[in-house]
Amino acid sequence: MNGAGDDSLVLFPSHSSSISEDSQQSSSPIPIALASRGFLRSRGFELVQLLQDSLQGQVWLAKYSGKKVVVKVIRKSFCSERKAFDGRQVAENALREIEVMETLESLPHPNVIRMVQSLEDTDNIFIVLEHASRGDLLTFLLNRRLSEEDARVIFLQILSGVTHLHDCQICHLDLSLENCLITQEGILKICDFGLARLNPFYESFVSKPSYRPGKLHYMSPEIVELQEFNGFSSDLYSLGVILFCLLFQFFPYDAPRHTDPAFLAVVQGDICDVLRIHNCLGRVSQSAESLLRGLLCLEDVRMTLEEVQDHPWLRGDPTTGQYSDEDMDLSD
Ligand SMILES: Nc1ncnc2c1ncn2[C@@H]1O[C@H](COP(=O)(O)OP(=O)(O)O)[C@@H](O)[C@H]1O
Ligand SMILES: [Mg+2]
Repeated sequence: MNGAGDDSLVLFPSHSSSISEDSQQSSSPIPIALASRGFLRSRGFELVQLLQDSLQGQVWLAKYSGKKVVVKVIRKSFCSERKAFDGRQVAENALREIEVMETLESLPHPNVIRMVQSLEDTDNIFIVLEHASRGDLLTFLLNRRLSEEDARVIFLQILSGVTHLHDCQICHLDLSLENCLITQEGILKICDFGLARLNPFYESFVSKPSYRPGKLHYMSPEIVELQEFNGFSSDLYSLGVILFCLLFQFFPYDAPRHTDPAFLAVVQGDICDVLRIHNCLGRVSQSAESLLRGLLCLEDVRMTLEEVQDHPWLRGDPTTGQYSDEDMDLSD
């Protein structure tokens, strides 16, 4: 169970490793072939540093026309079989990811990562992205304890990005700390559209057991239960988990199982009980608790995006002493 009052943040999953200077390609499960490096070089991209191994490839820092960019490499064979490198069935779809990012290119937003271009060679699909030099929010949080005001500044930016996506009829379906990036200037940007859906109301949303979209920690109860779900509302649940992590620096529960008392409390609509279980009742303002309650709950009682936008916590609540005129300084 996530420990009460534990500031160490060791409770975040260790697989989400931080960007490391000495990441070695040789230990990577899906090393990029020399031929692909040559192909990229012929198009002006020089791979500089492996940032992260991913389920179907790698994420690289690269140079293009003297500027830093990120190249997301996706192995075509895994993509066509919908498999991860370890043989697991996954729902990621690189072609849809490109389609969504192309749609977003005509409607760019400051809190959504931008695609520079997409390329492919025989073996791989390459998605070239703007570089967010301060990495992802999970890594950022590992070294920090945020005030409620800091959490609000970050959450507002993520909410702004999600609002834009939903306005564009895109649901993300994999909102997580790992998929929120931070630029050098401290701007939050949503990334990773591998599971995103365009116009989801027009698609069948019946999920199969091996195709649950998203990460377990952030997954809405309706997706966990393999029920038909509304992707927009599920995104809001994931936002609730992100908000919880921003406020408390640990996940609301270990796993979304009915044997986990904290998950049971969420399903029963009792966020106070979740906080009691973690011994952190009263640590944040009642206004923050109320927003958490509206997001971390079953779909039929979950807030709509409009209700979230109108929530008093987003404006700061002078009565709780959480209000500040100053934006959080994300610089070191
Ligand atoms: N544009 C970027 N700038 C900086 N880091 C990035 C960027 N894109 C991805 N990353 C890093 O790589 C990780 C994996 O990328 P992501 O697109 O989420 O792929 P996956 O489908 O494997 O989750 C992110 O969590 C982040 O740490
Ligand atoms: Mg990701």
